[in-house]
Amino acid sequence: MDILQYQSDFLTYLESQKIVREPKNLYEPIDYILQLGGKRIRPILTLIASDIFSGNFSQAMPAALAVEVFHNFTLVHDDIMDDAPLRRGNETVHEKWDINTGILSGDAMLILAYQYFENYPPAIFQKLAQLFSKTALEVCDGQQLDVDFETRNDVTIEEYIKMITLKTSVLVAAALKMGAIVAEADEEQAQHLYNYGLNLGIAFQLQDDYLDTYGDPKTFGKQVGGDIIENKKTFLYLKALEVANNDDKQKLFALYNENQENISEKIKTVTSIFSDNDIPKQTHELIEYYTNKSFECLTHLNISEDAKGGLRMFGENLMNRKV
Ligand code: IPE
Ligand code: IPE
Ligand code: MG
Ligand code: MG
Ligand code: MG
Repeated sequence: MDILQYQSDFLTYLESQKIVREPKNLYEPIDYILQLGGKRIRPILTLIASDIFSGNFSQAMPAALAVEVFHNFTLVHDDIMDDAPLRRGNETVHEKWDINTGILSGDAMLILAYQYFENYPPAIFQKLAQLFSKTALEVCDGQQLDVDFETRNDVTIEEYIKMITLKTSVLVAAALKMGAIVAEADEEQAQHLYNYGLNLGIAFQLQDDYLDTYGDPKTFGKQVGGDIIENKKTFLYLKALEVANNDDKQKLFALYNENQENISEKIKTVTSIFSDNDIPKQTHELIEYYTNKSFECLTHLNISEDAKGGLRMFGENLMNRKV
C-alpha cells in the first residue's frame, strides 16, 4: 500500500480535469480551492479501499474525485458559516471573492461531484449515488447542529460526538465505502470498512478541534483560535466545563456568552483555562480511544494482513498530524 503513489496519481487525475470554463467567476474559485492543496485524505481512502478489494485503484479515480470535490464544497460553505479568513494558508473563497461567489461556486461543486459518478455503469452508479445522497444530507445535519450548538449552553459530550459523526465522520466512512462499491466488494465487508472510517473520522475531528486551539499558526493553515472566537462547543470546551473549578467555569461560560471586544485576549484566556485543566491530554486520550476502536473494525475484514497494517498506519499518522 503506497500512500504517496495514490496521492500523486490522484493529483495527476485532478490535473487532467478541465474545470475552468465560462463563466470564469463561477469556475475559477472552484479551481482555486481544489488547487490549494490539502491532505487529500478522503480520495486516498477511496483508492485504498478499491485497491484492497480488487487490486485495482485506477477504476476508483472518478469516485475519489467526487469525494474530494464534495469535501471542498463543504469547506467553501463551512468557511462562510464559520466566518473563517484562512484555508490551507491562503484566503478563503468568500474573502478572496465574496460571499455570493462562495455560495454559487459551492453549489456548482456539489453538482460536479455527482456528475463524476456518471463514469460508472448503472448498477454501480446507483449504489454510489445512494450512499452519496445519504452522506451529503448527514453532513448538512451535522453542520446545522454545529451552528445550533454555538448558542446553546446545555450541549453534552454525547451530543458533540453525534454532531461530529455527522459533519465529518460519515464522509470519511463513505469515501472508503465508495472504493469498496467500485471494487464490487461484499456488502458486509464494505460495511466493516465503513465502520473503521466512522471511528477514524471521530478521532480526526477531535484532532481538528485540538489543532484549532493548539496548532502552530505558521504551519496550520487556518486561523488558530477560530473555534474559540465562534463559541464552538468543541470537546475541549465541553470537557473544560466539566472538570474545571467554579472560578474557571464561570470565566469560560462568560467568555462564550458575552460579546468579547478583545478577541486575542479571549483566545489567550480560554486557551490557558484549557491548558490548566489538562484538556490537551484528555483530548489525546479520546483520540486514541476512537483510533483504537477503528482498528477493532479491521479485525472483521477478510483482507491481507499487509492491507490491515496499511490501514492501521494510516490511522496512526492521522492521530499524530500537525495540519
Ligand atoms: C477539514 O478537513 C474539515 C474537517 C472535516 C475537519 P481536512 O483537514 O481534511 O482538510 P484538507 O482537505 O486537508 O485541507
Ligand atoms: C468542518 O468542521 C466540517 C465540514 C466542513 C463539513 P470545521 O469547521 O471544524 O472544519 P475546519 O476546521 O473549518 O476545517
Ligand atoms: Mg470551519
Ligand atoms: Mg465548521
Ligand atoms: Mg475545525
